[in-house]
Amino acid sequence: MADRYLSFTGTAPGRFLTRRLGLPQPAALERGSLTGGLLHLTAGKTDLDLAPVLARTGRPRDEDGRPAAVVLDATGVRDVDSLAEVHAALHPVVRSVAASGRVVVLGAPLDPADHHQAAVQQALEGFTRSLGKEIGRGRTVNLVRLTDAPAAESTLRFLLSPASAYVTGQVIGVGATTQGAAPDDWDLPLAGRTALVTGAARGIGAAVAETLAGQGAQVVVLDVPQAEREAREAAERLGGTALALDITAADAGERIAAALPGGLDVLIHNAGITRDRRLVNMPADRWGSVLDVNLASVLRTTDALLAAGAVNRGGRIVATASIAGLAGNAGQTNYGASKAGIVGLVRSLAPRALAEHGVTVNAVAPGFIETKMTAAVPLFIREAGRRMNSLAQGGLPVDVAETTAWLAHPASGAVNGQVVRVCGQSLLGA
Ligand SMILES: NC(=O)c1ccc[n+]([C@@H]2O[C@H](COP(=O)([O-])OP(=O)(O)OC[C@H]3O[C@@H](n4cnc5c(N)ncnc54)[C@H](O)[C@@H]3O)[C@@H](O)[C@H]2O)c1
Repeated sequence: MADRYLSFTGTAPGRFLTRRLGLPQPAALERGSLTGGLLHLTAGKTDLDLAPVLARTGRPRDEDGRPAAVVLDATGVRDVDSLAEVHAALHPVVRSVAASGRVVVLGAPLDPADHHQAAVQQALEGFTRSLGKEIGRGRTVNLVRLTDAPAAESTLRFLLSPASAYVTGQVIGVGATTQGAAPDDWDLPLAGRTALVTGAARGIGAAVAETLAGQGAQVVVLDVPQAEREAREAAERLGGTALALDITAADAGERIAAALPGGLDVLIHNAGITRDRRLVNMPADRWGSVLDVNLASVLRTTDALLAAGAVNRGGRIVATASIAGLAGNAGQTNYGASKAGIVGLVRSLAPRALAEHGVTVNAVAPGFIETKMTAAVPLFIREAGRRMNSLAQGGLPVDVAETTAWLAHPASGAVNGQVVRVCGQSLLGA
């Protein structure tokens, strides 16, 4: 269902009226291309060799003072005095950042042996999230914690590009490992890779399959047998194959492995269902079916595929959580539990999967995304869901798809165990 309010506030009378009434002012998000240069600022003494990485993004250095992207290297901020340099660096430029522009703050990991460093590096999170809430005009603000610049290249490219339009107020940790070489062609980073997407006949999963195929992957569109026709049509459009399979089948992992003798490079656990009821009214079958599709099947198939060696080294697993799993949601004890379970799975498995199989494990946590699922939500709850975030609008399936694709990139080997919200900085949860 189209967001009519967003269209209305895009007109002159709409803007006038909604401003007078003090209503939210969503800006149409730029998902095509960002025009404008890049401004590279520093706070504190830094050892990060960032310039070559930023130069490779192809974004020209900002010259006319209207940057589309600002990168503030605050990795060297170690005390309250140097924290003041964050203010000094951004205060004069933040107003000039173009609409739909990007602000990326770079921080260092918290030092357990230095509570002053830890205090001010943690302070960067409060700073980033607060600026995200006030910056407006479709601009995003994110914090990346990193130790070396080349390992963060895929992440910086993503956050500085239109692909991250609905990702704001996030803190993303990037490790030091550079497992996974930079692709020959950054436009086709998934060339030669096989990617399986569960629940890909429609909705977010279909968008993920399309985005991965657009970036060069050979996609396998998996969905329940009842959706086989849609899955086949989607696969044909994308030059991939369809796999009709209920992911809750006890042998789903073995059947996927058998269908893909060359193994998998990218495994996207997207299939998910809701069966909402308050706990007092929730029968065991509604609880059980949601936990089975959203969590148990993800655990089962991941275990089976890893044990069979069916996820190739350098592989990427991305599971789908939800802000309902982070913040909780009335009527969704089953769904919230299942999606929080995904977060636990990711955090626990990620280091082991990388060490033992050379595979990263991350999650995306969508907020309010415009799909058939959210179109069915009653009007007022739907409107609240759309507006209660820093961008004052719902995201699109492509926003989740682009975030998933970044995590699936061969060059994202240093991003592991992360839960990245695609929620426009929803007011729900941290
Ligand atoms: N739409 C949102 O706003 C939103 C928000 C947060 C999280 N999510 C999550 O994103 C994912 C996709 O959501 P969506 O809105 O596209 O949902 P959707 O209902 O439009 O699509 C889900 C797909 O999964 C398939 N599926 C369901 N059970 C399956 C099973 N047992 N085996 C194989 N396939 C199965 C369905 O047939 C369908 O094609 C889900 O995990 C959902 O929980 C969505």
